[in-house]
Amino acid sequence: MANAFFEDAFGLSGRVALVTGGGGALGRAIALALARAGADVAVSDYSVKDAETVAQAIIGAGRRGLAVEVDVTRSNSVDAMTKEVLSAFGHIDILINSAGVSGHIPAEGMSDEEWNRVIAINLTGTFYCCRSVGSEMIKREKGSIINIASMSGIIVNKGSNNAHYCASKGGVIMLTKSLAEQWAKHNIRVNSISPGYIRTPLSIPVIEEPSFRAFLKTATPMGRPGSPEELMGLAVFLASDASSFMTGSNILIDGGYTVL
Ligand SMILES: NC(=O)c1ccc[n+]([C@@H]2O[C@H](COP(=O)([O-])OP(=O)(O)OC[C@H]3O[C@@H](n4cnc5c(N)ncnc54)[C@H](O)[C@@H]3O)[C@@H](O)[C@H]2O)c1
Repeated sequence: MANAFFEDAFGLSGRVALVTGGGGALGRAIALALARAGADVAVSDYSVKDAETVAQAIIGAGRRGLAVEVDVTRSNSVDAMTKEVLSAFGHIDILINSAGVSGHIPAEGMSDEEWNRVIAINLTGTFYCCRSVGSEMIKREKGSIINIASMSGIIVNKGSNNAHYCASKGGVIMLTKSLAEQWAKHNIRVNSISPGYIRTPLSIPVIEEPSFRAFLKTATPMGRPGSPEELMGLAVFLASDASSFMTGSNILIDGGYTVL
C-alpha cells in the first residue's frame, strides 16, 4: 500500500520530459533522474554531441531518449525543438530549463555583448522555452515546468563580478512566479530550483582553488559544494504529482549558503 502511494506520487512512468541544456552537468543528472523515475526524455542542447551522449544513456536505462539541437536564444530554433519532440513523443509533460552560462567581468567594464549574451541565454532563452512548450501544455491542460535558476538570483556571489548572471537568475525566479500565476488555471505548475555552488567540470577550477575552498568552508554551513546528483531528488519531486500543490516556488539547494 505504502509502496503504491510512492510509485503513484513520485513515479513518472508514461510521462515525457524535455531537458534543455541537457548535455551539461546539471541537465544530465536531472535527465537521468527523470528517466530512472520512469520518464521518456528528450535532451536538447547547443552541443548536440553532448545531448546525444545523454540520450544514449537514457536509452541504456531502458527509456526512450532523443537528442535535439537547439539555440535557446533564437525563438525559431526553440519552436523547432518543441516540434521535433512532439513529433517523436506526441506530447510533453515536463520541461526542465537548464541551459545557461555565467561570466565574470566587473560591471564598469562589461561590454554590451557580454551583458546581452548572458541575459539572452539565461533569461530570454528560458522565456522562449517556457512559451513554446507551455503553449503545447495549455492545449492538454497539464504540465510541470522547472526552471534552473540559482542562489545568485537572491544573493550576490561575493567578489564574482557577475551582475549580468545575478540579474538573469533573479529574472528567472520572477518569470517562474509570473507564469505560475498565469498558467495555474491550465493545470500547469511552474517552479524553480536555485542551486548554490555545485561541483561540475566548469566550476571545479574555481571551487577547487585553495583560497575558494577555504572561503566556502566558512561561507557555507555544510562547508562543501554540492554534487549534480544532489539535485536529482528535488527535480523528480517537482516534476511528479508528489508536488501537486506547489507552484511559483523557488527552492534553494545550497548547503545553507543563503542562511548566513
Ligand atoms: N554548476 C553550478 O554550480 C550552478 C549553480 C547554480 C545554477 N546553475 C545553473 O544550472 C544550469 C546548468 O549549469 P551546469 O553547471 O550544468 O552548466 P553546463 O555548462 O555544464 O551546462 C549548461 C548547458 O547549457 C548549454 N547551452 C549554453 N548556451 C546554450 C544555448 N544558447 N542554447 C542551448 N543550450 C545552451 C551548454 O551547451 C551546456 O551543455 C545553468 O542555468 C546554471 O546557471 C549552475
